[in-house]
Amino acid sequence: MVEIGTFMGLSACFLASSIKGTLYTINVSASEMKIAQKTVSDFGLTNVKFIVGDSLEALPELVQNIPNLEAAYIDGYHSYRYSMGEYQIIEPLVGNKKSAIFIDDAHKPHPDGEQDGGILRTVDEPGSKRIPILGNRIAVKTFGDFALL
Ligand SMILES: C[S@@+](CC[C@H](N)C(=O)[O-])C[C@H]1O[C@@H](n2cnc3c(N)ncnc32)[C@H](O)[C@@H]1O
Repeated sequence: MVEIGTFMGLSACFLASSIKGTLYTINVSASEMKIAQKTVSDFGLTNVKFIVGDSLEALPELVQNIPNLEAAYIDGYHSYRYSMGEYQIIEPLVGNKKSAIFIDDAHKPHPDGEQDGGILRTVDEPGSKRIPILGNRIAVKTFGDFALL
């Protein structure tokens, strides 16, 4: 699984403890990533790999090198340009199998954004083939027979 937007590592702990494989988490801030690494280590988790960098720069090469990528959690820079860009890098690699892409904070314009329509625009555009928002906050696109419990 890949996560974009590690921050302090809390979501990484929830995600990594819910999967059997490896969580690859990307964050643009090296200082935040240091804290996240400590959080994950304090939780006793060993299945997380940390990548410092801008998501749109780091993702294309990263996802090509992840064997059996099956899920993504997008929670980085909440603009249309970033969230749609990230979605479109990931979707071709997971869209033909049982998998899911989650986009957090899809319910409202986010202060991180670029006033470009934000995630609300991403989840409503044909480029993402329209993504339903669940729980009034997280947009989830499932592929194959991936089931949400
Ligand atoms: C909302 S926080 C993530 C919260 C985290 N997922 C959690 O729930 O614990 C967003 C994070 O994305 C990072 N970020 C912002 N723009 C980014 C980019 N272009 N590439 C990678 N990370 C980015 C920020 O540094 C910030 O830590």
